[in-house]
Amino acid sequence: GTDGPVLGIETSCDETAAAVIRGDGTILSNVISSQHSVHARFGGVVPELASRAHIEKIEEIAARAIDEAGLSWQDLAGVAVTEGPGLAGALIVGLNYAKALAFALNIPIVGVSHLEGHIASAWLKDPSFPRSCVVLVVSGGHTHLYHRGQDGATRLLARTRDDAAGEAFDKGAQMLGLGFPGGPALDKLAQAGNPGKIRFPRSMRKSSLEFSFSGLKTSLLYRLQGMDKAHLDGIRADVAAGYQEAIVSVLVEKAFTAVGRCGVAALAVVGGVSANSRLRALLTERAHREGVLLSIPPLQYCTDNAAMIAAAGRNALSAGRRLADDAEALVTMDP
Ligand code: KG4
Ligand code: ZN
Repeated sequence: GTDGPVLGIETSCDETAAAVIRGDGTILSNVISSQHSVHARFGGVVPELASRAHIEKIEEIAARAIDEAGLSWQDLAGVAVTEGPGLAGALIVGLNYAKALAFALNIPIVGVSHLEGHIASAWLKDPSFPRSCVVLVVSGGHTHLYHRGQDGATRLLARTRDDAAGEAFDKGAQMLGLGFPGGPALDKLAQAGNPGKIRFPRSMRKSSLEFSFSGLKTSLLYRLQGMDKAHLDGIRADVAAGYQEAIVSVLVEKAFTAVGRCGVAALAVVGGVSANSRLRALLTERAHREGVLLSIPPLQYCTDNAAMIAAAGRNALSAGRRLADDAEALVTMDP
């Protein structure tokens, strides 16, 4: 049957990840091999190097996920794999590995979208969190607001018109000389700064739920131009805190506006940027004040991981979904 353990495989970008979820929804293992050190000196992910690193790691990571779950290969009831969106060469490694495994073990396989995975992460810690809610997906590639119905169907409410929130973090961090990936480094530096000292513009048009972060990025660029290093060194933490505040305050505002408009009682915030400490604090405070149920995944399920793919895959498998025999990696995908 498909109600036994499911192995999830995720290789859409620069993390090689595998995880096992039990039939009852318990995560038994969650193994991640990050390629950050491979890409750091290039200041961003190099697709060709990513594919190669996935090829080198995938078998070992999957075997560790099985091992740490206390299982053997024969115990698996299904395989779930990210089919997109992501880097073509990176996706293909996971997809082909998962297909070969499912074939060898003679078990069903399902392809899930990376977004579907991030969204599923909202129910990992608390399976009783309402099905009907607003979901904000904030990652390196996405800043999307959805209304999710009781049946699990999602409807896109709004997205970013330009950069994703994670990109705004990464580019801002790069301008501040914080290295790659920038989001976590900017988060850390901002904790030592005052978010109210240096104000950055916010795209806060009340009538629209759409996001825009390109103006903010430009504003930081102008501020840094002509600033000498000694001066910047003195205020770097305040700049980071002010810049971060401009991103997260808009995310919070629009997410809660969407909750009000959709008439739901619950908000889920998922994706890499949901690991941000200031965003988590502001969301928690506002949710408490407004009596909105809030789900933000534990940190290990915010950034890319395979537990979320296993969770989404388990749902899809039990709904009867299967990967087509001729399935290929979906490099881009409709939101
Ligand atoms: O979900 P994710 O791991 O990969 C994608 O699907 O893109 O998200 C990665 C993004 C990166 O832009 C990274 O800088 C950002 O999430 N990120 C953070 C934090 N941790 C990761 N941004 C702000 N604060 C953080 N603590
Ligand atoms: Zn992601």
